[in-house]
Amino acid sequence: MGGIFPEKEKLDEIARWQGQIVDGFGVIGPEYVRHRLRRRQLDAWFEKQVKAARAGDLDVPAGSPFRQMLDHVDADGRPLSDRTTAVEVQNVIRPTIATARFAAFAAKALHENPAWREKIRTEALERGVTWDGPVAEAFAEEVRRYYPFVPLLPSVARTDFEHQGIEVKKGDRVLVDIYGSMRDPEYWDHPETFDPARFLETEMQHSEVFVPQGGADVNTGHRCPGEIIVVGLLALTVAELSVREWTVPPQDLDYSMSRLPALPADGVKLAGMSSPGR
Ligand code: HEM
Repeated sequence: MGGIFPEKEKLDEIARWQGQIVDGFGVIGPEYVRHRLRRRQLDAWFEKQVKAARAGDLDVPAGSPFRQMLDHVDADGRPLSDRTTAVEVQNVIRPTIATARFAAFAAKALHENPAWREKIRTEALERGVTWDGPVAEAFAEEVRRYYPFVPLLPSVARTDFEHQGIEVKKGDRVLVDIYGSMRDPEYWDHPETFDPARFLETEMQHSEVFVPQGGADVNTGHRCPGEIIVVGLLALTVAELSVREWTVPPQDLDYSMSRLPALPADGVKLAGMSSPGR
């Protein structure tokens, strides 16, 4: 885990708790209470690891993400506080775990689009590897467009401004419509159709209305710096699923975009997974 090596049971628990933090962030109800509790517990656990590492009681490999965060100093030469280091480590781990939500939607999409599954399988077998395949990547991009499990981003205006004739005052609540931007027929052909071809040999992934993880320039705007990781992981998952045989037992694959973050009702369970190549 980026330079921290807990026992297997602890690792499973951390993964489960990080998943629960993701699951509860936009819900009013018990999930949100659990989200807050897990966050407190994990912040404390990671802070303990930071303190142990800085005291020399933990072996952290050189070059690992954890070591880099432990050794990072700001412009004035000061290291991050123990608490901030603990939070920053999790800022990498937690969203990587959250990519599993896109993976669940990708499995549903492969199940519902067998012709694409076959294309991706052919691509992977021809290339001899399951990473960086253009067809798998186009499929991953379409999953991010079609199933944005965080369909809106809430924000507060920092200044007065006008947008498309609407006056916004400093302090006003602003919602960025992630879902709507990626379904707008003005920019997307047949936006209600799941079609990875829209990202094959096109530049649509660089379009300003393609905002599954925030928008504008990553350095100056509100774009997630982890996009390249998500697309890489997702394309790999899609290709790995395509070179295997599996079935989808009876379950509810429906989902609601008004549940934040969204996920198909039964989480997308697959059965009878074969070895690669079938
Ligand atoms: C699972 C899918 C993901 C989604 C939907 C997502 C979405 C977002 C969004 C909307 C922002 C806010 C941008 C802003 O308002 O400035 C953000 C920020 C961020 N994301 Fe992601 N992200 C994902 C995965 C990842 C991954 C895998 C990583 C790294 C391993 C990552 C690292 C970050 C970091 C470090 C920030 C904060 C950037 C800053 O404040 O400068 N994200 N993400």
